[in-house]
Amino acid sequence: MNYKSALSYSTQWLDIIKQEKFPEESQAKWIIEESKNNFAEHFNRGWLEYRKSVTEAGDWASVEWSGIGSTITDVMGRNYIDWLGGFGMLDLGWRHPEVVEAVTAQLNRAPMPSQELIDPLRGVLGKLMADITPGDLKYSWFAASGTEAIEAAIKIAKLYTGKSAFIVALKAFHGKTMGSLSMMGKADYRQAMGMLYAGQIYHIPFGDADALEKQLEICDKVGIGVAGVLFEPIQGEAGAIVPPDDFWPRVRAATKKYGALLIADEVQTGLGRTGRLWGVDHWDVAPDILATAKSLGGGVLPVSAVTTTEEIFKPMMYPNPFMHTTTTGGNALACSAAIATIHIILRDRLWEAASTKGAYLIEKVTELAEEFPQLYKEVTGKGLLIGQHFQTPELGYKVAAELFKRGVLVSGTLTSAQTVRIEPPLIIAQEEIDEGLNRLRDAVGVVAKTM
Ligand SMILES: Cc1ncc(COP(=O)(O)O)c(C=O)c1O
Repeated sequence: MNYKSALSYSTQWLDIIKQEKFPEESQAKWIIEESKNNFAEHFNRGWLEYRKSVTEAGDWASVEWSGIGSTITDVMGRNYIDWLGGFGMLDLGWRHPEVVEAVTAQLNRAPMPSQELIDPLRGVLGKLMADITPGDLKYSWFAASGTEAIEAAIKIAKLYTGKSAFIVALKAFHGKTMGSLSMMGKADYRQAMGMLYAGQIYHIPFGDADALEKQLEICDKVGIGVAGVLFEPIQGEAGAIVPPDDFWPRVRAATKKYGALLIADEVQTGLGRTGRLWGVDHWDVAPDILATAKSLGGGVLPVSAVTTTEEIFKPMMYPNPFMHTTTTGGNALACSAAIATIHIILRDRLWEAASTKGAYLIEKVTELAEEFPQLYKEVTGKGLLIGQHFQTPELGYKVAAELFKRGVLVSGTLTSAQTVRIEPPLIIAQEEIDEGLNRLRDAVGVVAKTM
């Protein structure tokens, strides 16, 4: 214990936090060293070592300090084009002024609710979610992260159906808390935890409607009640995998036939990322439950939602309306960010931007992939959720590192080791796309020469 040291260190940092930039290089370098040490000694040393491509890309590791639009600036004042978009959390880019304005107004009045009186913004966000989600989804439950939204979806499906089995996809990613992790489609992260969710979970290959129909039929025949079928409309962490066109309509029909709820995990695909407002819109499917997170807070605050029909939500309201709650979920500050975000996305029709920019990027990166087949396997995705699949994880890593040296940030995906994603903010400028492409071409050329 060292209260005295904590007090003086926090005093020092409270001053630094207020600084926009660091004209004195020595201070910037001190922050870099301090950040590296703090990560290594007090946060997660493995994390630091794993992020070699960004920590060893120059003489001084990149420590981010500010961002605007699609540009990240580090403490040394170096700029990076953000082709990662916070793993889908920055659809509106960094610090969107209208989100910041709404949040600041709320912050200066009442950031958190009393939890006892009625707070208006929670209701407003619920109404907006009802307006913008497909079908007759009407009631929402709010939290901060995607995984909490999935946990809530699991509970709602169980409560409503009285059944407990789930069908999910191979390579799926739905979050890392116990329930969501149980739905994961890969041994990593999941296996080490042993027995997680107590009900049955069946995995089928993503995009294989025959397999889903078969699994539902088998469960039905042997008397296993399936509460829900949970899929991402387009798999994100598996590497931007788009299912065949008949998949979602058949999933919808089969879940209806067997009385299982259809849960769409739109945590990464939602709010315009794939070129439609919702991933399921590509196939005109209305799920029974839809989970949203990441960009719902406009890249300013964490907020997530799970939205469902009045009928399905009933057991969350009666007899006990506190069946599933969290103290800070749906707080006024988070809701103000989400309200501003939804407004901007609808007003600026950002899904259209994602569609056009995404089609352009996919075309250009595919051309590059065809030129360098020794590096690339294929390019997948829709809108601005794009996966570059390399021949090996090492090649993907090398390209990402070379690209970072050239001032463009990308990253891998969680359940596909050889995939490097391109997932920029939807508001990215055409010049930042073209400049990124030039630098990608350079990076790929350099890696190809080393082979
Ligand atoms: C499809 C999907 N679902 C759920 C999650 C988990 O969200 P969070 O990291 O906010 O818990 C993610 C995160 O990447 C995701 O991509």
